[in-house]
Amino acid sequence: MSKKLAVMLSGRGSNFVAIAETIASGALQGCHIDVVLSDKPDAPGLEEARRRGIDTMVCARRQYASKQEWEQAMIDGLQARNVDFIILAGFMRILGEGFINAFPRRILNIHPSLLPSFIGLDAQQQALDYGVRYSGCTVHFVTNDLDAGPIIVQKVVPVLPADDAAALSRRILEQEHVAYSEAIALVVAGKYEIQGRRVLLK
Ligand code: GRF
Repeated sequence: MSKKLAVMLSGRGSNFVAIAETIASGALQGCHIDVVLSDKPDAPGLEEARRRGIDTMVCARRQYASKQEWEQAMIDGLQARNVDFIILAGFMRILGEGFINAFPRRILNIHPSLLPSFIGLDAQQQALDYGVRYSGCTVHFVTNDLDAGPIIVQKVVPVLPADDAAALSRRILEQEHVAYSEAIALVVAGKYEIQGRRVLLK
């Protein structure tokens, strides 16, 4: 049966669009995007979902009295749809243990650096400030440690002398759009085993 993906985003949603287009092209099989969930009612990514006829859900943090209630509303919504995997694609809030533990090893995230370097915000600027010659992106399982879950796919890009954060971000983003579908293909096919920190491919 086709696995159900829920994409969570807060912004433009270019990773979501890349995944949706890869599925539509037939290059990523065995899954479909069941719903796009955002914490931002005006996220452009939601509009992209609607244009494609994909269901959307909005859970704005300010609609709930506590972080726990907000997370519970999202858990309830996603569990009611029986989603198999949760794809964080520019979801800009840190999820707590309650949410992460509700979907063990079923939440994926993409980060615009070669983890474990440059966790947190502005990873591309961090890479420039540090002076690394190569950066890239990482798709990983989400655990309770920020940007530190088992790594599924990484792509490397060079940092060029003339780069500013925008130029480096664009080069990394191109690879993000490839990396995320590769990682999803792998988990959807179930051809992996997590041993400690390592994702072993079968
Ligand atoms: C990407 O750079 C991703 O690595 C980070 O947030 C950004 C989301 O971009 N987590 P988009 O909304 O998918 O275009």
